[in-house]
Amino acid sequence: MPVKRLQRGIDLPDPVAAPGEVVIDVVAASVNAADWKARAGQYAQSKFPLVLGRDFSGVVSTVGSGVEDLKKSDSVFGVCEAGQEGAYAEKVAVKAAIIAKKPHGLSHVNAAAVALTGLTAIEETLKLRAGETILIQGGAGGVASFAVQLAKHIGARVITTTSAANRDYVRDLGADEIIDYNAQDFTKVVTGCDAVFDTVGGDVAQKSFAVLKPGGRAAFIASGAQAPKPNRNDVISLRPAVGRSRQSLERIAELLEARAIRPPEVKLYRLSEAADAHRLSESRHFRGKLVLQVR
Ligand SMILES: NC(=O)c1ccc[n+]([C@@H]2O[C@H](COP(=O)([O-])OP(=O)(O)OC[C@H]3O[C@@H](n4cnc5c(N)ncnc54)[C@H](OP(=O)(O)O)[C@@H]3O)[C@@H](O)[C@H]2O)c1
Repeated sequence: MPVKRLQRGIDLPDPVAAPGEVVIDVVAASVNAADWKARAGQYAQSKFPLVLGRDFSGVVSTVGSGVEDLKKSDSVFGVCEAGQEGAYAEKVAVKAAIIAKKPHGLSHVNAAAVALTGLTAIEETLKLRAGETILIQGGAGGVASFAVQLAKHIGARVITTTSAANRDYVRDLGADEIIDYNAQDFTKVVTGCDAVFDTVGGDVAQKSFAVLKPGGRAAFIASGAQAPKPNRNDVISLRPAVGRSRQSLERIAELLEARAIRPPEVKLYRLSEAADAHRLSESRHFRGKLVLQVR
């Protein structure tokens, strides 16, 4: 068998803007669990050479034909199209229609931190309403940092799970009730929820059905492409689509500009330190977001 040599540090040509695309000089790119899952070979569609990275913030450097609503030097943020990666780079070409202008008051680092995590299930999938009670599993994570605040902004009561180390962090985000998952079994202390948003997966996801009231709904983003099957027939199990759209990003920008939501705590790395960021992301025990400063 021939041995494949892994090349390190090859330079790829700069991307070119196809019709309908812009090239962005990336200022910051965030690290998502999906990145180390792709690096570990969990996604069959990955093609080499592979540049990882899904969400970014930066400055438009080239505008492709047919793009009327963005121009050179605009600051923008967004998420690569589903199936596309490439934000851990100095430049990325992205379809203009799925990115948005970055609010002036938001740094590139914070914009990159919220682009993908903000496309949450809370509004579109769970349709959470004021006065309802929601259990958000994994409150200190990047997606949940946004979800806890959005649920509070909607007027819901928020229960969340975290380790003791992140208790103060989730309290500051607005959580009403905090469960240390190392000290307490949430199924013994939580009951009668209208909704669950699970960002942890595995057993935690499966056990989450127990806390729902009849007619309750649960959304899962860490259990693969399909929602887990409930072990009772009076609740709904949902898998959010997490579609890419300018409209969703503008909703995120509006919430941040209105100070209804603040960016998550960010741990910043240089692009060359991406491997260190992956090690921490893969440990799954940290708070907020890990962001790569590209320039
Ligand atoms: N397209 C999509 O559907 C989509 C988009 C974004 C993310 N995701 C997925 O969503 C999941 C969450 O991503 P993320 O970036 O927000 O966070 P993450 O990096 O997966 O998780 C980090 C957080 O999980 C918490 N945690 C770990 N085990 C826990 C447990 N047993 N109970 C409660 N909390 C626990 C940690 O808190 P402690 O440090 O306190 O333990 C940490 O804050 C990932 O699986 C990711 O792949 C899916």
